[in-house]
Amino acid sequence: MTDFIDLKLSKPILRAITEEGYKTPSPIQAGTIPSLLEGEDVLGIAQTGTGKTAAFALPLLHKLAEAQHKAISKQPLAVILAPTRELANQIGENIQDYARYVPLRTKVVFGGTSIRPQIQALFRGIHILVATPGRLLDIMNQGHCDLSKVETFILDEADRMLDMGFIHDIRKISAAIPKKRQTVLFSATMPASVKGFADGLLRDPVTVEVAPQATTAEKVEQQLMYVDQGDKRALLDHLFKDPAMEKVIIFTRTKHRADRVTRNLIQAGVTAAAIHGNKAQNARQRALKAFANGETRALVATDVAARGIDVDGITHVINFELPNEADSYIHRIGRTARANATGIAIAFCCEEERAYLKDIEKIIRQSIPMVDDHPYHAADVANATSKPVRPVQGGRGGGGGRGGAKGGGGRNSGGKRHTNQRPKGSGQGGKPHAGGGNNASGAENAGGAGKPKKNKWRKKSAGNAGGGKPRSGGRPGGRSGGAVQGGNRNRNSGNS
Ligand SMILES: Nc1ncnc2c1ncn2[C@@H]1O[C@H](COP(=O)(O)OP(=O)(O)OP(=O)(O)O)[C@@H](O)[C@H]1O
Ligand SMILES: [Mg+2]
Repeated sequence: MTDFIDLKLSKPILRAITEEGYKTPSPIQAGTIPSLLEGEDVLGIAQTGTGKTAAFALPLLHKLAEAQHKAISKQPLAVILAPTRELANQIGENIQDYARYVPLRTKVVFGGTSIRPQIQALFRGIHILVATPGRLLDIMNQGHCDLSKVETFILDEADRMLDMGFIHDIRKISAAIPKKRQTVLFSATMPASVKGFADGLLRDPVTVEVAPQATTAEKVEQQLMYVDQGDKRALLDHLFKDPAMEKVIIFTRTKHRADRVTRNLIQAGVTAAAIHGNKAQNARQRALKAFANGETRALVATDVAARGIDVDGITHVINFELPNEADSYIHRIGRTARANATGIAIAFCCEEERAYLKDIEKIIRQSIPMVDDHPYHAADVANATSKPVRPVQGGRGGGGGRGGAKGGGGRNSGGKRHTNQRPKGSGQGGKPHAGGGNNASGAENAGGAGKPKKNKWRKKSAGNAGGGKPRSGGRPGGRSGGAVQGGNRNRNSGNS
């Protein structure tokens, strides 16, 4: 069994994570930290809520602290990219927590907020830059940031960063970082459509897949409610009569619908706020903070809050509208049942959404259990035998792609290595999180000791869903055409 001590992280880091209440490394942490400490490129795939942030952050902090380099003006040593402002902010907070006993300087930069303090912090010198791609490019183009000293390049939510919305920006940023570097990609999903880009960015990577990509969080109880579009509001109000719906995130496809659902909830006496791309950044952060603190019972969100956001104690996720990108379902429902917690995810499905449901069930390799004992059950939709018709829609676009010239981009790896790491203990039995303490928004420098302790990552024999069966041998060649050298390294046999 791997313990944090076995991972050979330095004492100040161990002390900080002990104070965080982490007792046992999660499977993705045990599986990736040794390779990351050795400076290897890593592709890490594990379900939502299983501690991927610490998996990439702890070894980075360890290495930077050991190296004892001074922070240089405008020249960070590590760059971590995330697709949304709130996620970048949260990663920055996590890093501040983990780095509280090491003398490293971190800055988070993202759009929608004043660029000046960000430029000033870079000028004073930082070790780690956490950024959304658009703002980082702005700062680089203005000559305030030079990535030529970057040794570690990390993409959180890597598949999202490599899809249409961001790929051009990522190429430009990647081209500004020396080729000789460590590149690290993490996500719960890695669809085939972007796998080629991932392969192109990584050099001879170690792949650690705790569960096959697109595996849903183990402890989330999924439910499907067929309902006519016009009854969705009444069904939502009905569900909110249940006091167990304590802390609920509701996803819609459009910003407009998010605002409407928020208004309706408030009218029905439910405290609610919306978060989406048309809101001012301070309103977005306020909404997230009020939800995290328990001041509002409902957060109504577009997919801007689907990925990575870690708010303690979310009891329910409601897909008021199913996402048209099937992967998004996995990330949305993963806002609940994080770490040791349990949670419920309810998907509303009307006639027009049957095609989306089909896509989702296909990628998650499960059919979502139907619940029909509610007053708005749409039997005709449930029993429909016709082929679902896919609604006409635009592409993903989404969060801040800027298009533009092609960048130099990634390094093309030759051979691929693949570790079959499916560490034991991917089960995460146990109680829901103790509430509080994990504010996803707010000040970048939050943290310090005395936060509520988190449940330890319980060791439990794998046994079920989290595992799936180990992959055999090297994986099929990447789409970038790199040769497959099927070598099958197993760096953490202690844990597998
Ligand atoms: N070893 C550990 N023991 C206990 N709790 C942990 C451990 N590692 C991480 N956590 C906690 O688990 C929660 C989820 O972690 P994190 O946000 O890193 O998950 P993730 O895998 O990145 O999820 P997502 O795919 O949704 O981004 C956080 O609250 C974090 O503090
Ligand atoms: Mg994450």
